[in-house]
Amino acid sequence: MKKTILLSGIALFIITMVACEKMLPPAPKDEEILAGTIPGLTPQQEHEHLVGDIAFGKIFTPEQGLGPIFVQTSCSNCHAGNGKGHPTNVLTRFANVNGSIVDYLLSKGGPQLQQSSIMGYPAEVIPGEANVFSKRMAPAIMGLGYIAALSDASILANVDSNDVDADGISGRINYVNPTSFFIPQSIHIPNGSQYIGRFGKKAEKVTIQDQVVFALKQDIGITSDFDMQDLYNVQAGINTGDNVTDPEVSASFVYSLVFYMRTLKAPTRRNTDDPDVMAGENLFNQIGCNSCHKSTFVTAQSDIEALSNQTFHPYSDFLLHDMGQLLDDSYPEGNAKGSEWRTPPLWGLGLAKDSQGGQLFLLHDGRATTFEGAISFHGGEAASRRTAFNTLSEQQKQQLIKFLESL
Ligand code: HEC
Ligand code: HEC
Repeated sequence: MKKTILLSGIALFIITMVACEKMLPPAPKDEEILAGTIPGLTPQQEHEHLVGDIAFGKIFTPEQGLGPIFVQTSCSNCHAGNGKGHPTNVLTRFANVNGSIVDYLLSKGGPQLQQSSIMGYPAEVIPGEANVFSKRMAPAIMGLGYIAALSDASILANVDSNDVDADGISGRINYVNPTSFFIPQSIHIPNGSQYIGRFGKKAEKVTIQDQVVFALKQDIGITSDFDMQDLYNVQAGINTGDNVTDPEVSASFVYSLVFYMRTLKAPTRRNTDDPDVMAGENLFNQIGCNSCHKSTFVTAQSDIEALSNQTFHPYSDFLLHDMGQLLDDSYPEGNAKGSEWRTPPLWGLGLAKDSQGGQLFLLHDGRATTFEGAISFHGGEAASRRTAFNTLSEQQKQQLIKFLESL
């Protein structure tokens, strides 16, 4: 009797195991996830990447310096799985614009809203003077090391401010004031005291580190050696901080985050030999999407050997373009006007919805939920390309979209 129970118990166990095995989804392939390192790193660099990965996922507590006002408690809360964010989790910048005078309301809590706060401290409210707002959804952060390793010269090569080639598309540089901790490298070409911005939706940040230091403070309320001034709610009184000694993270924590993002691989393309994908790529080039979404760049020398002289395919020119009224948020940043946005890289778009709960959200604030939708918002300099897309046959449109999905 006992033996039968035991045997049937074992049988049940085996059946359950087999059934579970069948129910488990297969592990995603490397090319289907937005994670992993660029090829060719040394074991030491792989290790540093892992340290940065942990920093990126770190959830800050009030004891560790969170806030006193903040947007989120960790980098990965917005850049989930290194992928695009979600429109319910956008951040808001504000300013007062009066003709050509732009006031970022720095003494009144600008330029960014922190709508959350630690216990017992009032969250920020947008000051009444603010009359322009920029809502931004987090971008994917894959392959940033390649972009950071580009020489300014290779970005300048595509500038056509006065549209000399008369293709309707100009492409401008956002020259911005460098941060106090910016150290120019051989890749940088200054314009007076200003440098070429290449990160951020309006290309307002020169380096990854500029963005990281800004994000630590403006998104999480964390001070570092590079910015020792904590956030505070102006209504609560000046410098009413969180009582945690500044800097709240070390310089090495900041460097780890930078290293993590420099060494995240570029998204891997999929289905490149599908005839529809190939036809779609030809159409993408034929109708001139590639006037801005440029496929190929080559990096300069880099202190990370694996990033030196590498060919990569971001589908961007990293330049500002006037995208017309529909995408105009009236919010200037550096030289960028409200209607101007940096061409976003299209790599990784086919995997974007994986970090967005299965539903695609595109454009700077996530307003478009399909590729056609995103294209339909292309006005200004891109209007002629939108028209060209609209005149494609239904089959051709689907091929072009299949190409975007393969990125
Ligand atoms: C509240 C959501 C949010 C949090 C938290 C956040 N980010 Fe971001 N991140 C964004 C948005 C939105 C942008 C676009 C910003 C812009 O246009 O200026 C961005 C841009 C970036 C970029 C530039 C990417 C590019 O392609 O130009 C980097 C790098 C980055 N974030 C890193 C970080 C790091 C590191 C942290 C943690 C310290 C962090 N972010 C925390 C929302 C967030
Ligand atoms: C004049 C330059 C320009 C041209 C030409 C252009 N784009 Fe764009 N594209 C942009 C800019 C700038 C954005 C970002 C706008 C925003 O976020 O509001 C963008 C956004 C996108 C997005 C959304 C990306 C994302 O991450 O949310 C897709 C998809 C896209 N473009 C596809 C195309 C296709 C397809 C064509 C050809 C029909 C095309 N673009 C032509 C500049 C251009």
